[in-house]
Amino acid sequence: HSRRTTAPEIRALKGVRPIASLTAYSAGMARIVDPHVDFILVGDSLGMVEHGFASTLGVTLDMMVLHGASVVRGTGSALIVVDMPFGSYEESEAAAFRSAARLMAETGCGAVKLEGGEAMAPTIRHLTARGIPVCAHVGLTPQAVNALGGFKSQGHDAAAREKILADARAVEAAGAFAVVVEGVVEPLADAITEALSIPTIGIGASARCDGQILVLEDMLGLTPKVPRFVKRFAAVAEAIDGAVKAYAEEVRERSFPGPDNVYRPKG
Ligand code: KIV
Ligand code: NA
Repeated sequence: HSRRTTAPEIRALKGVRPIASLTAYSAGMARIVDPHVDFILVGDSLGMVEHGFASTLGVTLDMMVLHGASVVRGTGSALIVVDMPFGSYEESEAAAFRSAARLMAETGCGAVKLEGGEAMAPTIRHLTARGIPVCAHVGLTPQAVNALGGFKSQGHDAAAREKILADARAVEAAGAFAVVVEGVVEPLADAITEALSIPTIGIGASARCDGQILVLEDMLGLTPKVPRFVKRFAAVAEAIDGAVKAYAEEVRERSFPGPDNVYRPKG
């Protein structure tokens, strides 16, 4: 019997050892990931990966509750962090608390994540002061894809780097227990990691971040198109393709089900 990792325990890993993290969207996949990672993110990327949306903007709180509860049921060791979807927290601190409280109460997750830096710092302070651990997310923030002009790496000029570093400092000061640093130039990720006392969780950032995260389906080779920062650790789509092809052939030639796959009368 192993107890779940907590948000304060993730925070305390900075400077001790790297933090390994992946996304998962459902109990079945999360069960496989759980023993190997420190935390699992139920990311709103599920809208694109699992539901075929072109961006994460259409993801609802109901969807996050459904997937978050599934992941919690399938796991027992990793901290589960659930993304707050677009529109569920930006309007006011009160709206953010209501959404985060619903995620915590209805999924059993141990923390929430939201996107944004200086602009979201008061909201992060509001939630953390009320018992909700918050992971922040700066740099390439996919919910802002329309304002950023696409899914592109950030921090290519000095002003942009200064702004993102200020965002990172602001979320730390507001009480975030960790910050995802996504799609920024490597020297900026290193500067943020050095400047903060909370862990940076890199994705398309730097090997020197305090931890790393990837979308599980991307690193498994399940998604057709991935950004250059993704390393494919397996070729699961090819494995599924081969298995399904073999199954369909065996059905069509009546070699499946075979003698071992059918029930014979006992009497
Ligand atoms: O939604 C997501 O999967 C994320 C991670 C990529 C950090 O926010
Ligand atoms: Na996300």
